[in-house]
Amino acid sequence: MRIAVHGASGFTGRLTVAEVLRRGLTPVLVGRDEDRLRKAAAEAGADGADIRVASLDELTGALRGCDAVINCAGPFTLLGEPVVRAAIAAGAHYVDTTGEQRYIGRVLDGFWEDARRAGVSVVPAMADDGGPGDMIAHLTAARLGVVDEMVVADLRHPAGGSRGTARSMAAVFAEGPLEYEDGAWRTAAPPPDAGPPRASGGPVSLAVPGEPGQAPVSVFALPGVVTVPRHVRARRVRSVIRSEVAAMFSSLTPDVVDAVPETVDPQTRSASRWLMLAEATGPDGRRSRGWVTGSDGYGTTAVIAVEGARRLVADGAPAGTLTPAQAFDPESFLNHLGVTWQVLG
Ligand SMILES: NC(=O)c1ccc[n+]([C@@H]2O[C@H](COP(=O)([O-])OP(=O)(O)OC[C@H]3O[C@@H](n4cnc5c(N)ncnc54)[C@H](OP(=O)(O)O)[C@@H]3O)[C@@H](O)[C@H]2O)c1
Repeated sequence: MRIAVHGASGFTGRLTVAEVLRRGLTPVLVGRDEDRLRKAAAEAGADGADIRVASLDELTGALRGCDAVINCAGPFTLLGEPVVRAAIAAGAHYVDTTGEQRYIGRVLDGFWEDARRAGVSVVPAMADDGGPGDMIAHLTAARLGVVDEMVVADLRHPAGGSRGTARSMAAVFAEGPLEYEDGAWRTAAPPPDAGPPRASGGPVSLAVPGEPGQAPVSVFALPGVVTVPRHVRARRVRSVIRSEVAAMFSSLTPDVVDAVPETVDPQTRSASRWLMLAEATGPDGRRSRGWVTGSDGYGTTAVIAVEGARRLVADGAPAGTLTPAQAFDPESFLNHLGVTWQVLG
């Protein structure tokens, strides 16, 4: 199975190439800079790997013959759509590691017909927030059937993030968060400054599994708002993160982004934890709550993206654009990751 990794020279791209090799699959390293791609191949112990140098407008040829492409080049808001277009034209399934909410919505809405005609599956948001978040939301909502209100929360503490993540989060912050209500998406409250949110009646604090008390949360543009309503019958979906993390993202000026280290060292990665939580309330007031948690968000993102691409090729999924929970059986996928998850209610 040949898996192209676009943006293979970046931090997430290099982890993804290593994971492709670990799974016994054949990586094809794709990007704009030959030296950096060669360095990435050597670092992964794959000196002889297939390397294809191509700019964004010549990617179709570079992706030909690949079964799937994993796109790791962000900000996706700026760079992503030409890669989706090229994957579809080359007849390769598409997965990416984005967490950029509006970009995910544009891909799911804008490429459905082209992907369906080409017979390929396009699944954005296969990272440690969008993938497990969409899947745990699906499993949580299934306890209620019909959902009046769902809140998807990313409850990780501030921890080491890469420069690429900082650059992408600055782009997300600039676009502002969406919320979903009565069949449509609209811009939620303006991005919070350092303070707690006052957005349209959403929660201002949440109980965090494994922690005493409540954590202050702020409205933030998470993938779940644009993915969950596509497979959960919910009247309203909103997303929040810890207020201290929102405050950090709100301070990402270009100078601050440039000062963030390019990579996150292995010790910081293995010491860090991510946690995605979904809270659903039914029209009758019944509630269910689910969460999924694990360590090393970047390593987990590589595992999620590679396993997603592998399943699209090996097991198949409907042609068209799909959210993570539409493309893959949520329970089976979360169990494969070896993460901790639970749904109550
Ligand atoms: N949501 C999540 O949980 C999650 C988790 C992990 C990663 N991510 C996302 O993954 C993305 C990558 O992060 P990272 O830390 O790996 O960033 P990075 O190290 O800066 O890597 C960026 C990659 O994009 C390529 N690139 C940049 N500009 C390009 C252009 N104009 N044309 C073609 N390629 C270009 C770079 O190629 P060069 O080497 O040639 O510059 C590099 O390969 C970010 O958007 C990040 O938010 C999300």
